[in-house]
Amino acid sequence: MILTEESVRNIEKKAARYPNKLSAILPAITIAYRQVGHLNAGVYREISRIIDVPYVEVAEAATFYTLFPKKPVGKYLIQVCHNISCALLGADSLVAYLEGKLGIKKGETTADGLFTIITVECLGSCATAPMMQINQDYYENLTREKVDKVLEELKAKT
Ligand code: FES
Repeated sequence: MILTEESVRNIEKKAARYPNKLSAILPAITIAYRQVGHLNAGVYREISRIIDVPYVEVAEAATFYTLFPKKPVGKYLIQVCHNISCALLGADSLVAYLEGKLGIKKGETTADGLFTIITVECLGSCATAPMMQINQDYYENLTREKVDKVLEELKAKT
């Protein structure tokens, strides 16, 4: 078993709210992701069994959404939006700055397991570009100074 009893209970509780079981897939995926930190075939199988939907339905939904990583990532998953508004306001240079500062390339995780950098499509915060999401939090109107501060704060928490 990958999912904890608490996650299973939460998934069952969510699933009970939906007359159509398929509607419970995304909430279930979200619960699993928050517990495990990434998704994989084992997680899809468990969700499929818990809410009684075909495995393929869970896998299709999970793989459609790039915001759910499919392999282990760092404690802090840095998702930099590289869509049009953010691109126009320096998303590429933001990624390069993060890569230089953390000593990794996009898609990689720091040796201490703290940070992973990925780029993602629009996160719906175009008016505050450039922006990034780290785990569940948004960081907007980014400058290099703001990035430095955010990373320092996150490192201090560990
Ligand atoms: S383009 Fe970056 S949040 Fe929309």
